[in-house]
Amino acid sequence: MSMSFDFAGKTVFISGGTSGINLGIAQGFAAAGAKVFVISRSQDKVDAAVSSILAAGAEGADGRSTDVRDHDTVKSAFQACAERFGEIDVLISGAAGNFPAMANQISSNGFRSVLEIDVLGTHHVMTAAYPHLKKPGASVINISAPQALVPMAAQIHVCAAKAGVDMITKVLALEWGPEGIRINSVIPGPIENTEGMRRLAPGEDDMDRVSNSVPLRRNGQAEDIAHMCMFLSSEQASYVNGTIVPVDGGWYLGGVGNAIGDMLKAFDTAK
Ligand code: COA
Ligand code: NAP
Repeated sequence: MSMSFDFAGKTVFISGGTSGINLGIAQGFAAAGAKVFVISRSQDKVDAAVSSILAAGAEGADGRSTDVRDHDTVKSAFQACAERFGEIDVLISGAAGNFPAMANQISSNGFRSVLEIDVLGTHHVMTAAYPHLKKPGASVINISAPQALVPMAAQIHVCAAKAGVDMITKVLALEWGPEGIRINSVIPGPIENTEGMRRLAPGEDDMDRVSNSVPLRRNGQAEDIAHMCMFLSSEQASYVNGTIVPVDGGWYLGGVGNAIGDMLKAFDTAK
């Protein structure tokens, strides 16, 4: 992990920071010297994440088993973080749920569970964090997904949920901007070795097929997302507020343009 960012003495709170991309973000901030607090449902995952965050170089690390769907439990996690590490400089909301299923095959409860984790959970994390955010100065980042930008079959629940998450980002940019709190969304592209991609691309060659659909012709690493989160939370990004930032090698530009573009390659006279 690059050491070009300095978050020594800063407190970073990450929901869903116990695995995959969000744990990579936690380790990035840890390597830059921050104190990191993580929450997710599984106590075992919290314990393992805290150890790995300390090993990555954090000034301190702690966490709590918390379901973001339960507002009171989320509030007490922020209380615990405040007692241990003080005011929050950086808040990352990354807890989310996903499974592939066609619209007709998702029960009301299935749709609700993803909306509750992603949208209501983000609202819980934002409002419970608010009293503890550094004002002015805090950086808030919601981890969104390409499904917020482009419709995807078998992802109706996630498309609806992540579009909602990005609107939370934009509304809070208006409401919290005057207090010197910045909030942005980061949209990861297809990231290797993550639960999200294991669910969406489980076949042996699926990840190669995915990388072929990325203009840069490669899938991403958790580090790519960590670097953007650290940039957005740095002094250098102090005028960036309310933006939705894809970090995806240009993946979201696909779809209709690519289908026509592939046909138009027949007109390539260089061949
Ligand atoms: N297809 C259709 N419906 C599904 C499903 C699938 N693959 N997986 C779960 N569901 C439905 C369940 O059937 C249930 O609905 P029902 O009560 O009508 O049967 C509903 O979703 C809730 O399932 P449950 O397992 O009780 O929910 P949970 O709260 O324990 O877990 C999930 C939430 C479903 C989102 C689960 O996948 C999860 O915990 N995900 C977290 C990790 C993750 O998704 N990582 C990827 C990156 S976001
Ligand atoms: P992941 O490892 O499954 O991360 C999800 C995290 O959220 C886990 O720490 C999980 O831990 C936690 N979580 C789930 N439900 C929760 C709940 N109800 N309350 C609290 N915590 C909960 O998956 P990932 O693929 O790295 O995804 C991380 C983020 O990136 C998600 O927001 C996802 O939408 C986004 N994203 C991923 C990709 C990708 O390529 N993987 C692409 C675009 C966007 P517990 O199980 O312990 O709760």
